Amino acid sequence: MKAVILAGGSGTRLYPTTLVVNKHLLPIYNKPMIYYPLSIAMLLGISEVGIVVNPQDLAAFKSLLSDGSWLGMKIQFFEQDKPRGLADGLIVCKDFVDDSNLLYILGDNILFGHDLVKVLKEGAERVLKQGGACVFGYYVNDPTRFGVVEFDESGNVLSVEEKPSKPRSNYAIVGLYFFDKAACEIARSVKPSERGELEITSVLEEYLKMNKLFAKVIGRGFAWFDAGTHDSFLEAGEFVARIEQRTGLMIGCVEEIAFRNGWIDKNSLINLAKPLSKTSYGQYLMRIAGEKP
Ligand code: G1P
Repeated sequence: MKAVILAGGSGTRLYPTTLVVNKHLLPIYNKPMIYYPLSIAMLLGISEVGIVVNPQDLAAFKSLLSDGSWLGMKIQFFEQDKPRGLADGLIVCKDFVDDSNLLYILGDNILFGHDLVKVLKEGAERVLKQGGACVFGYYVNDPTRFGVVEFDESGNVLSVEEKPSKPRSNYAIVGLYFFDKAACEIARSVKPSERGELEITSVLEEYLKMNKLFAKVIGRGFAWFDAGTHDSFLEAGEFVARIEQRTGLMIGCVEEIAFRNGWIDKNSLINLAKPLSKTSYGQYLMRIAGEKP
């Protein structure tokens, strides 16, 4: 399975913060936002990742992540010349995805919780075995802000709607999807919505029409943030800070995951830690490598 992270868009809901800096490069507490979705792909064992970016931000992303080899990964970038919507990312990286099943993550979604990987893997396995697509529903107070999924007890989806004024359920669709290889073709066939964008929900609707859309619940014990507004951005940062300070363990630390996955060795981890040695981040990496901070 490959992963694609969507890190384009104009971040208008974070203006003026994002007037010159891409949203996904801004810090959520102590690391760039893009580390969080990247770490989800890594935790799922996916080492081949495509990142969809705006042309003007390509250099910055490359300078941060290069080709991914420092993490034992293969990272490629795909330029989206205009923000045409979330489903457009599937079209942009069609050749990269090729015949693969796909983890598709919105670059501003931050997920945390015990056994998160287990829950996500169950969704991935369903797609690997049966084809189709899997979405994750998260119970929220105000579903009108999100894509909303309605489903039965077996996880069969009954409806999906993008930001409905009268939601049919309280389950928001988390910005993380598993797709079979049909997704890119489907994205090419959908029509722009009223706001002129290729909506990811339109792709989901196509899967639903084919009876191939499943939902899994990400239960109330998990934390989910989409750090796309001033308040949710701050909330996500505060949350990460609280958990990390309390436990002494990091969320979304890509170097640590690469090391624990066996993708980089101890020496490489120490070398990555050295330039960061003045920070608690660098000292943490040294600790993980088994050295004194
Ligand atoms: C997007 C999707 C929506 C999903 C949300 C999750 O909305 O269109 O279906 O629930 O991400 O973060 P956006 O936040 O881009 O408006």
